[in-house]
Amino acid sequence: MPQEFERVADEADLPPGKTRIAVVQGTELCMANIDGKLYAIHNECPHDRWALDGAKLDGEELVCPGHGLLINLPNCTVNAMRDSPDNPLVKQYPIKVEDGGIWVANL
Ligand code: FES
Repeated sequence: MPQEFERVADEADLPPGKTRIAVVQGTELCMANIDGKLYAIHNECPHDRWALDGAKLDGEELVCPGHGLLINLPNCTVNAMRDSPDNPLVKQYPIKVEDGGIWVANL
């Protein structure tokens, strides 16, 4: 089945260094812009399931507002927790910019 992208925001709504929450087909996602590259992950920390609303970026890492877990967005890994490429704790959602908007696909 082809991925269906949904427009969730204007491109200008997510400038570099910022995060923003979006809902795609009933799933709440946390989006981030790191130097112009966009990322979207489930809006739930893998540590204790806190929402990532208001999470700040520290370089390539998203800092969970709960207890400070660092989620590396490009690598999709977290510090201080057991994960691996075969068992990722953080799931990335396809995200793209098109026609001045930000589009995300649910999986
Ligand atoms: S819930 Fe995110 S660090 Fe604890």
